[in-house]
Amino acid sequence: MKEKLESIKTEALEEILKCNDEASINNVRSKYLGKKSAFSDVMSNMASLSPDEKKSVGMVSNEVRNAITEALDNRLKAIKEEELNKKLESDKIDITLPSNIRRSGYLHPLTLVREEIEDLFISMGYDVVDGPEVDSDANCFEMLNLPASHPARDAQDSFYITDDMLLRPHTSSMQVRSMLANAEKKPFKLICPGKTYRRDDDDATHSHQFSQVEGLVVGENISLSDLKGTLELFAKKMFGESREIRFRASYFPFTEPSYEVDVSCFKCDKKGCNICKGTGWIEILGCGMVHPNVLENCGFDHTKYQGFAFGVGIERVASLKYGVTNIRDYFINDYRFLKNFDRKEI
Ligand code: DAH
Repeated sequence: MKEKLESIKTEALEEILKCNDEASINNVRSKYLGKKSAFSDVMSNMASLSPDEKKSVGMVSNEVRNAITEALDNRLKAIKEEELNKKLESDKIDITLPSNIRRSGYLHPLTLVREEIEDLFISMGYDVVDGPEVDSDANCFEMLNLPASHPARDAQDSFYITDDMLLRPHTSSMQVRSMLANAEKKPFKLICPGKTYRRDDDDATHSHQFSQVEGLVVGENISLSDLKGTLELFAKKMFGESREIRFRASYFPFTEPSYEVDVSCFKCDKKGCNICKGTGWIEILGCGMVHPNVLENCGFDHTKYQGFAFGVGIERVASLKYGVTNIRDYFINDYRFLKNFDRKEI
C-alpha cells in the first residue's frame, strides 16, 4: 500500500508540472485526490489493516496528500503569476514617451475687461443685453435726437451699408432698441457691451473697429447723483479703491445735461505724469441724463420717467488698466501679447 501511495505521488507530481492553466490543475486535483481516485481506493482499503499498519500507512497517506496538495497549490500560484505578468507586459505604457503638450488659451484682455464690467453691473441688478452690429440710421441717430444735420451722421464718419443701414458707430443704438422693446414701459437697468465701427484712420490710438459698453437706467426719480454714484463705483472697481472721478460739462445730443468723466490718475495720484499728460486726470467716458426727446421717441413719458446713460470704450479701459499703448495690439492676435493676460488681476 505504501508503494502504491508513493507511485501515486510520483505520477501526480509529474503531471502537475505539465499543467499550464487553472482547469488542468483542477482536473489533476480530482484525478489524484478526488472520490474516485486511486488514492481514495487505498484509503478505503485501510479498514482491513492491523492497527500498526494503519498507523504507518496513515502517515504515508497524509504525507502523500499534503505533497500533492502543496504541489497543486504552488503550480496554480505560479500559473496565476505568469498570467498576470503576461497581462502587465501587454498593457505596458511607456511613461518616458514625450506627450503632446497642449497649451491652454488665455482670455483676450478685452474679454477680461468686458467680463469685469459685466460682473460689476450684474451685481447691481443690471441686465446684460446684446444687439446687432448693423443697425438703422433711425436707431443709431434719429431716435437719439441726433438731427439730420449733425456731423456724426455724415457718411464720411460711418460705414453705411445701404442708404439707411450702417455698422453701428456706438452702442447707444441699443438705448433705442431696449426702450422700444420694453412693451410695458417699466423701469429697467441694463448694459450693452458690443462692437462698434467708425471710419477712423487706424493708428496707435484709433481703430475703425472698437468696442463699447453702453449703460442705461430708466425709472422714476432717477437723478444725476444716481449716475455719479454708479460711475464712482465703476471707476473704483476698474482702477482702484482710492480713485476719484470728476464730471466735466460736455455735449451729447441724446443726454441733457451731458458730461465727460475723468478718473484721478492711478499712476501719479493727481500729481501729473506721462499717463495723465500732466493733468492728474484721465478721461474715461461720456454720460448724462437721458434727453426727454429720446424718452418720448421711445414711448416713455418724460414727465414721469427719467434716466441716465453712459458709454465707455472697452479698449480705453483695458489700455489704462494694462498699460497698452498701441490699440492695434488688441487685434493682431500676437501670442506674445496675448499670453500676458491671465484671469487674475494684473
Ligand atoms: N455714444 C457716445 C460715443 O460713442 C458715448 C456716450 C456718451 C454714450 C454719453 C452715452 C452717453 O450713453 O450718455 O462717444
